[in-house]
Amino acid sequence: MKLSNTDQKIQVVEPGWTAESVIRSIIGSGVQENAFYVFDIGEVYRRYKEFVSLMPRVQPFYAVKCNDHPTILKLLADLGAGFDCASKGEINKILGMGVEPSNIIFANPAKPASHLRHAASTGVDLMTFDNEMELTKVKALHPSAKLVLRIRCDAEVAQCNLGMKFGCDAQTEGPRLIRAARFLGLDVVGVSFHVGSGCGDPPVFRRAILAARQLFNYAATVGYRFRLLDLGGGFPGVKGSSLHEIAGVVNGALDDWFGDGDVQVIAEPGRYFVASAFTLATCVHSKREVRGAGDKDAAVSHFMYYINEGVYGAFNVVLYDHFHPTAVPLKGCSGKMTPSSVWGPTCDSMDLVLEDVLLPALDVGDWLMFESMGAYTLVASTTFNGFPTSKVHIIVGESDWLQMSAELPVSHDQFVFGSSASALRLGLDAGDEDEAWGPPPRLPPPLSCHADAPPPPFLRDLVAVEPIN
Ligand SMILES: Cc1ncc(COP(=O)(O)O)c(C=O)c1O
Repeated sequence: MKLSNTDQKIQVVEPGWTAESVIRSIIGSGVQENAFYVFDIGEVYRRYKEFVSLMPRVQPFYAVKCNDHPTILKLLADLGAGFDCASKGEINKILGMGVEPSNIIFANPAKPASHLRHAASTGVDLMTFDNEMELTKVKALHPSAKLVLRIRCDAEVAQCNLGMKFGCDAQTEGPRLIRAARFLGLDVVGVSFHVGSGCGDPPVFRRAILAARQLFNYAATVGYRFRLLDLGGGFPGVKGSSLHEIAGVVNGALDDWFGDGDVQVIAEPGRYFVASAFTLATCVHSKREVRGAGDKDAAVSHFMYYINEGVYGAFNVVLYDHFHPTAVPLKGCSGKMTPSSVWGPTCDSMDLVLEDVLLPALDVGDWLMFESMGAYTLVASTTFNGFPTSKVHIIVGESDWLQMSAELPVSHDQFVFGSSASALRLGLDAGDEDEAWGPPPRLPPPLSCHADAPPPPFLRDLVAVEPIN
């Protein structure tokens, strides 16, 4: 079995290696110029295990929209996850991997008619709704659907509020919609919610589960026997965030209000599984010094750095996901920090990654690393202005690999062991010949920040010239 439906190989890294050390080795080769991600599949594996162990009653249906990299989808499918699909395209992607239609929830409360017809024809029955028009469409196009009423219950703190777009009012609209579905003879099987993506308000899950319980009770009075509770997404995913508090709240609320155990409980985690698994490396390709206005001798007050990823690519999350990326300069020097801004590569002035940060002085050819870049980055990246979407180099730590291969029937020829040049350039687009990468690196030290360090080979035609005074 392959952990992907592509031929992409995965580098098994030795103990002690991290995404950062892999990045250092790749850029230390001097042949990599384009930005790239290092994706640690062990992180997704461990997070899946943590999710099901912390919330044993909750079955994850991964939100494909968050990151549809084939290796993520295949790994989660092999681990037994279900999938939350938002469209016909996502449904096809998941069915194409051999996942049963019953392991899919079409969790878009506003579905285009052709997508609804497609769900009907492929046997995807489980789907959400939050309004009467959707019920009318379902009645006409997929009358045997199993419907899940999406209610609104917003976290007080969340990275992205979703309630302004989806979810009916549980007290006023919920009962009316249940009655309308009953009148139409449709099968409503339960309740769903999404408290907001990147939830920073764990108690909201208790409020939402209670609101769902009340609708389960109401539904019983009009002849339904609800059997599914869908907790949606919202579980934070950045490096260092924890699921423990939310899990405690969820488990407590399930015990209190769904203690009898005959209700299937699912959730639609997206960012929790993938955010921390991706680290992005970007290269400074241009630089401007800004001096005080109107005085030619004024000191430099601010540096503008231009990197090869921006808001039309991976950093779309700055605009759409309210994400605040942190730049880690890989120079490894601790010199004077100067006020700086970091810009993407396009000609658009909106293409601003970091508006006002303190950074050490950087040169063209220096690299900035950004952690926790796996959620909503690749899926929404464009090639605006002709800049490519960053490629993905996949790694797995040796101990994760051992556990995964004991549990899953992984095919060994998909893995490359160690840190030879050929292992390091997997999935990337530079230096097709191993020789271009030099000898295989040992665990790499921080890159030199020595002022006289030679430029990397991909900058070899760049000739230093004396500045004009
Ligand atoms: C219906 C639905 N489910 C799940 C998710 C995933 O949310 P998260 O990434 O916060 O887990 C989203 C995100 O937009 C969503 O719209």
